[in-house]
Amino acid sequence: FTVTYNFIYFQIDCRYFTYSAAVAGFLLHGSAGPLTAQLRGAVLLPCFVDRPLPLEELKVDWRRTDSDTIVHLFQGGQSRPESQGDAYRSRASFFSQEIPKGNFSLLLEDVRTADAGVYKCVVYTKQEHQETRVAIRQVERLVVTGVDEAVYAHVAEDVTLSCSVDTHVNVTELYVEWRKTDDDILVLLYADGEIRPESQPERYSGRAEFFIEEIPKGNFSMKLWKVRTEDNGEFMCEIHTNTDSANTTVRISPLGKSPEEIVLICFSTLCFVIKSHVNLYYILLYECSVL
Ligand SMILES: *[C@@H]1O[C@H](CO)[C@@H](O)[C@H](O)[C@H]1NC(C)=O
Ligand SMILES: *[C@@H]1O[C@H](CO)[C@@H](O)[C@H](O)[C@H]1NC(C)=O
Ligand SMILES: *[C@@H]1O[C@H](CO)[C@@H](O)[C@H](O)[C@H]1NC(C)=O
Ligand SMILES: *[C@@H]1O[C@H](CO)[C@@H](O)[C@H](O)[C@H]1NC(C)=O
Repeated sequence: FTVTYNFIYFQIDCRYFTYSAAVAGFLLHGSAGPLTAQLRGAVLLPCFVDRPLPLEELKVDWRRTDSDTIVHLFQGGQSRPESQGDAYRSRASFFSQEIPKGNFSLLLEDVRTADAGVYKCVVYTKQEHQETRVAIRQVERLVVTGVDEAVYAHVAEDVTLSCSVDTHVNVTELYVEWRKTDDDILVLLYADGEIRPESQPERYSGRAEFFIEEIPKGNFSMKLWKVRTEDNGEFMCEIHTNTDSANTTVRISPLGKSPEEIVLICFSTLCFVIKSHVNLYYILLYECSVL
């Protein structure tokens, strides 16, 4: 027969044991690597054995390794929420139907920054105990980045307004809204994994678009075609997950029709040239001679 043992020294001893002694050993599994959780989201801390264990004599003790705070406890055939540390009360739970199958994973909800750390799951049977450790390496919050500067455009020009999300969440689960905040109107919407052009008002219909191929990368920048004077003002890109939201804003300042205006004023041989370019004015001084 073949049996897997947890420790090498068991293997040596047990070769000569009877079968019933050999099955007493169990193998405890945890997470393959550190976990990343979303702020205010939920995270599953895995801990399971390769076979069901008798419930009467089972104890599962989940703790933080740094503070020794009890995160959750299963003992005497039931969960013991009364033993949970205050920080974890009503936030950590077992999957009760899974426990008889040997699955002692814990669901931690409403994740906080302070939840980052190392947890251990210790499983006790009458004969032995095993432990596995699971780390929450990082608690991420949704970060949305854009550009801080205003975007200058001439009427009828096209502009790109930046907005991208830096997170490990699946982009199909995001709700992304571009709004013109001064007038409080929707410009562009992405929801349920799709762009929703039908929700655009007439003013932006066909004139504001996402870069479709950039969306999977979390880039929700918007292309606004043929800027109008009425586009002058602030635009907000607001991104929501189920639990968090963040935004970035950008201002569009449409300029006059001509890209450069030049005014020439001469007093005898001295001429001032006033040049406007985008939002800057230059005054240049020339000495001119009359030809
Ligand atoms: C344990 O139960 C949870 C919740 O049902 C499930 O997501 C997870 O895959 C289970 N783990 C194993 C090893 O079955
Ligand atoms: C993102 O979620 C969708 C639906 O919820 C799923 O079909 C897709 O496989 C997920 N993508 C990744 C990369 O997890
Ligand atoms: C998003 O996509 C636009 C259009 O391709 C590009 O100009 C911009 O640099 C991208 N932003 C980021 C952060 O990748
Ligand atoms: C935009 O984000 C800021 C924080 O960055 C927040 O205070 C504000 O309420 C958000 N605005 C909206 C409309 O969500």
